[in-house]
Amino acid sequence: MSAVGDWRSTQLPYRLDRRAFADEEILQRELELVFKPSWQFVAFESELPDAGDYVVRRMGRDSVIVTRDESGAVAVLLNSCNHRGTQLCRATFGNAAHFRCSYHGWTYSNDGRLVGVPHLRTAYPAGFDKTLYDLRRARVTAYRGFVFATWSPDGPSLEEHLGEFRWYLDAMLDLAGGEWEVYGPPQRSIMKGNWKVPTDNFAGDGYHMGTTHQAAFEQGIYGDSLASGTLGRKELELIGINVSTAHGHSLRAGYVVEKGDRSISTDVSEPAYLGYPPEVWPSFTAGQTREQIRFNSRCEVLHGAVFPNIAYLSVSHDRAIGRDDDPLTRYTVWRTHTPIDARHTECHYWTLVPKAMPEEWKRRSYQFQARSQSAGGMLFEMDDFENFARIDNVVSGPVTDGEPLDLTLGLGLGEPVPDFPGPGDAEYCTLSEHNQRAFYRRWGALMGYEGLMGQTR
Ligand code: FES
Ligand code: FE
Repeated sequence: MSAVGDWRSTQLPYRLDRRAFADEEILQRELELVFKPSWQFVAFESELPDAGDYVVRRMGRDSVIVTRDESGAVAVLLNSCNHRGTQLCRATFGNAAHFRCSYHGWTYSNDGRLVGVPHLRTAYPAGFDKTLYDLRRARVTAYRGFVFATWSPDGPSLEEHLGEFRWYLDAMLDLAGGEWEVYGPPQRSIMKGNWKVPTDNFAGDGYHMGTTHQAAFEQGIYGDSLASGTLGRKELELIGINVSTAHGHSLRAGYVVEKGDRSISTDVSEPAYLGYPPEVWPSFTAGQTREQIRFNSRCEVLHGAVFPNIAYLSVSHDRAIGRDDDPLTRYTVWRTHTPIDARHTECHYWTLVPKAMPEEWKRRSYQFQARSQSAGGMLFEMDDFENFARIDNVVSGPVTDGEPLDLTLGLGLGEPVPDFPGPGDAEYCTLSEHNQRAFYRRWGALMGYEGLMGQTR
């Protein structure tokens, strides 16, 4: 029986068939049923400031050129010539009015129209219709500068796809005056392992911190990061709140609270935005709703996943590596995990900084991110990638394949969060796979594996 038809975890609702991390047939099904109809993040509008600017990205396994055409609109074009299929654009980014195929010279405008065919009048039959060979264009929508695309012409809108998660994206962006920018070009790396492994991790894995990132703790990265100095309080602790929303999106927020407190304070008179200098706090407060202030105040770490393959992270460390005198500085990174094959993943990382912050602060934020969560991240990323590769080392084998993986951490143990300011299913449970269950439940629904992860908590 085929790997897909023999899917075993349907009998075990909180267990995952480990072939999901290794099997090419399952990946083919994902590309068709998960990636192709979903809204996929392709670029930030700020990466394409001028007409003709382009970046080359992938949607699932399909290479696309994301361009700003001469009319100023963003187009997402399949990066494959319609004559023999040659890759049209080989650069990663640039500026071009046209894309000329390197094989026989068919030329496309940057909105995807076939505009040039060498020897058209003499070598092709009369009536050759160039419009039949325009590049396939994806449906494109931008939300607050984040450009998404889908191959589904009439599926849900991006706003419907994001659903309640928009509240959390807005809350993150409105924190710092609402205007953000990408700092520097995105970083890119190839990871050994399946695309779902890092996505699952960022969705809500607080469980690995004490083991995988033990070295970071030992080096004092977190040290006194409960910010007792900043908040002027003692007896503080960090609690984790998991939130899942429809369509498998998630976030996990770590709040600094007084010991034993399980609520998010309703007092907005003294908000604290950890990782930003206290001088800017009043201006940050001015641009937010009361509920956003409650969500953002005292949040030390925020991470999550936007279905299917986006992860994001906003962290306020107390120190950069090796510099004990660095002020508390937050970084925010947006990343994608795109399958190359079932066992290799392309990762992109964009560092986001508030436009309103001074250049020196932005640079330090970028450095913090680059040192920890990037292709060259010395502690966090390397530690994580080492474990992701160790999964891949042994994930597949005739006996191994029959041993499902467990996703019951925290099941039934989450407590409601009194008066939580945002929508979705929020629970207090510092160690939980609530969000991973939400991710795999959505994934299972699209893949036809009904019954997978019956409840998220
Ligand atoms: Fe592109 Fe022939 S393959 S012009
Ligand atoms: Fe990690």
